Amino acid sequence: MSNILRGSRVKRSSKRANDFISSIGFDSPITKHVVSINMAHMLALVRSKEVTPEVASACLAFLDGLPPDLQLDPSTEDVHHMIEQQAIRAIGMETAGYMNFGKSRNDQVSTAIRMQARSRLLDLAEALTKVQVSLAGQIRKRKTTIMPGYTHLQHAQPVTLAHHLQSHFDAIQRDIGRVTDAYARVNKSPMGAAALAGTSVRVDREYVASLLGFDGLVENAMDAVSSRDFALESTSVAAIAMVDLSRMAEELILWSSTEFGFVELGDEYSATSSIMPQKKNPVVAETVRAKSGTVLGALTGMFAISKSLPNSYNLDLQEVTPHLWKALDDTIESATLMAEMLASARFDEGRLAGSLSSDMSTATELANHLVERYGVPFRQAHAIVGELVRSSVEKGRTLEQNASRNLGEVSKKITGKLLKIDKDDLQSVLDALKTLKLIGSAGGSNPLLVSRLLLRDSKSVEQNKSWIARSRASLDLADERLKKLVRTKDNEVRT
Ligand code: ARG
Repeated sequence: MSNILRGSRVKRSSKRANDFISSIGFDSPITKHVVSINMAHMLALVRSKEVTPEVASACLAFLDGLPPDLQLDPSTEDVHHMIEQQAIRAIGMETAGYMNFGKSRNDQVSTAIRMQARSRLLDLAEALTKVQVSLAGQIRKRKTTIMPGYTHLQHAQPVTLAHHLQSHFDAIQRDIGRVTDAYARVNKSPMGAAALAGTSVRVDREYVASLLGFDGLVENAMDAVSSRDFALESTSVAAIAMVDLSRMAEELILWSSTEFGFVELGDEYSATSSIMPQKKNPVVAETVRAKSGTVLGALTGMFAISKSLPNSYNLDLQEVTPHLWKALDDTIESATLMAEMLASARFDEGRLAGSLSSDMSTATELANHLVERYGVPFRQAHAIVGELVRSSVEKGRTLEQNASRNLGEVSKKITGKLLKIDKDDLQSVLDALKTLKLIGSAGGSNPLLVSRLLLRDSKSVEQNKSWIARSRASLDLADERLKKLVRTKDNEVRT
């Protein structure tokens, strides 16, 4: 297609150079928004009498007649050019020649990216909420399932599986909080900023913003066309969520190994080996783990492109956009699969509890007991129990056996006082589930406390779902109103 929009300033063109600077290959995510923006702008122009009702009707009818799956012409510079060019060809210069009156590709592209980003942020919040629903389902079933809690990947203290999974639930809740915060900053309209300076053409920016479902303006016109911090912020939010998802993925991979044997993932989320017939590989979890790197790479690329750019619009900004789509796509898909995979997970209670046997991870509770019941300063209690653990390992005894035999002697050596511990006391203080029930600090691994937080978790899920539904409904409402105005025959009622 020859280019009517090149105007007269530049004469010669090179196909290679044109292809190089074209964004048409990655404009499809914004195509439908560009159509809506053209509609809203035309409605604003006719409303302020900058164009005649005849011009508006012709342009709006053309835009409304475009197919929803509008094909992008690879020979054009971008979707903005393509639509205007097709309009001029279809309905003529006398009418379509006004479509870009008072607007620029610069305010238009930034607006379109924000429209697509806000919709993908809602998809992201939805996918992350699904992860929470799966986690909550497992938490409910695993309130008293005991397992080792780790620090440094070494057995630290017993915990419940529910408590462990709830840690991930809470992290995801913060991810969703970041999505909602970012959404509020993304959902502002640049339209009416024109190229960078605003315009003498009468366009009511507030009107255009409301037609497009925005919650206010990016006020300063230069800021409106040149800033992409909303894209950096959205991708940062995605990258942090990916870090959280990758940590869960890593645990599922480790836990489904023969050594741990804590969990078996659904077959749908596993693959076998082409040579070793016995293998069940956690390939979906591995891919989530890897994609966290991909998303971080996208973010790094976007930061590098954006930094040090002088005001206002520079074509460099065009290169930021595909990273945004890729990062959001990967994160949404990762979260969706993580939700399904978690729901499919079958935990092995025997293996989880069994791996606590003779690991001495209740030692902290024994030390606490010596402080509370026998008045030993904690540092000395720590030393007594440490000594008992060391000699247990040396002599191949359990901590319980060793403590019942040697506590007296060891305590005498360390504190100068001979401690005698009741056998029953010792037993209950070294029993994992019993020690968990002693935990009273908020957020601790006591099944009772976890249950209490589970009520809060259910509320969070409901709030997240209702925020997503409300936000989507308000975007849908704006879109319906826009399309209705476009289809109104009498231009006078188009207010
Ligand atoms: N295709 C561009 C983008 O995605 C918008 C066009 C702005 N180009 C220009 N020469 N002002 O950012």
